[in-house]
Amino acid sequence: MYTYIQNVHEHIGEEITIRGWLYNRTDKGKLRFLLVRDGTGTIQAVVFKGNVDPEVFEAVDQTTQESSLTVTGTVKEDSRAPGGYEMDVSHCEIGQIAGEYPITPKDHGTAFLMENRHLWLRSSRQHAILRIRHEIIRAVRDFYDNNGFTLVDTPILTPAACEGTTTLFEIDYFGEKAYLSQSGQLYNEAACMSVGKTYCFGPTFRAEKSKTRRHLMEFSKVEPEVAWANLDDIMKLAEDFVSYVVQRVLEERKEELERIERDTTPLEKIEPPFPRISYSEAFVLLETEGTDTPRGSDFGAADETILSCSFDKPVIVHRYPRDIKAFYMQPDPEDSGSALCMDMLAPEGYGEIIGGSQRIHDVDLLLERIREHKLPVDAFKWYLDLRKYGTVPHSGFGMGIERVVSWICSLDHVRETIPFPRMLYRMYP
Ligand code: 4AD
Ligand code: MG
Repeated sequence: MYTYIQNVHEHIGEEITIRGWLYNRTDKGKLRFLLVRDGTGTIQAVVFKGNVDPEVFEAVDQTTQESSLTVTGTVKEDSRAPGGYEMDVSHCEIGQIAGEYPITPKDHGTAFLMENRHLWLRSSRQHAILRIRHEIIRAVRDFYDNNGFTLVDTPILTPAACEGTTTLFEIDYFGEKAYLSQSGQLYNEAACMSVGKTYCFGPTFRAEKSKTRRHLMEFSKVEPEVAWANLDDIMKLAEDFVSYVVQRVLEERKEELERIERDTTPLEKIEPPFPRISYSEAFVLLETEGTDTPRGSDFGAADETILSCSFDKPVIVHRYPRDIKAFYMQPDPEDSGSALCMDMLAPEGYGEIIGGSQRIHDVDLLLERIREHKLPVDAFKWYLDLRKYGTVPHSGFGMGIERVVSWICSLDHVRETIPFPRMLYRMYP
């Protein structure tokens, strides 16, 4: 029987056996203090020379950082010990003495750490980020599963672009061109006409040729789509959703947030309603801050940062000029130059986490837009069909998980938000 370190508090005074890796060792006379981690926690195991066989004590002296161990001992409460508990070791078996571990407690450069990402994941900070990421993903699923959405998976291999042709990863599909999916949205639109409220959740791909702290080539996206919903409906859905995710992480990952030294005060404020401003209102704000971006074009990274820092909750910017947005967006009936779309920008300078819109539901208008954007009409035949058989207004959005992990964990760069980031000029490990 083995005990996980997270459960040692149930075994005070008992002899237990744990399995893990050596995080650190300090020697003091006849005592060896082993800091052991097993993925669920860390505990200090104290080896006193008089309490173990001489061979065991000798073997312990050979252990190096990341050596694998099976340790037996009695659990004691000790407020001074890291984690609040200690083990008085009676026996220790070494699995393997680790070779000289490249990642030591001293500071390493980012390039070196990225090169060793497969090992870097074991560090306390990366471990905490992985656990927070998982909680975010669980919260995302629970939110949709508990609100009447049906998960419908969308394909990764696709015949056409969803989000513009400049960021497509092209592959050879038995002599035909295919692309890695940029978004499941088009398929979501088919699915919501079957199940009403749907979501897809999986990897999406963008050949982003710019190097920024916000872009990855492969990232996880959750995308809800709702039949009969208009722009207002999905803005409400988006703020309820993001608030739920943040509050779940605050409840369930307190220890991890502390470990990465995240000040949670700004996160505690994240509850509906969120501020909503139109693109034109956003521009007035940017112009007072002295932006160089011409009105009518998309926000630059600096503009996003300014907007994001102007509010202490995520801000929803709606009704962008239709010319800078995707082909499928419904025009604003009050101003045909604007699209019924929205982006949500996270606070504290993090910028866009969500992009969404109401979709064109009229077949003729959609066909006109596909042609205007010079997209292959044939590849969109099925998509046009959705507007021929009982078409209804419908809306949805996509949220990038990595952007949200970055914001919630207060990270400098998305590369730490995903276990194995795919970046411009980096595919290793
Ligand atoms: O704004 P985007 O491009 O919207 C869509 O893909 C829509 N089809 C979604 C929909 O309506 N169903 O992307 C949505 C989100 C962004 O707000 C951002 O969080 C994330 O996906 N994202 C990226 N994250 C990391 N790296 C990249 N290169 C990203 N591109 C988009
Ligand atoms: Mg976007």
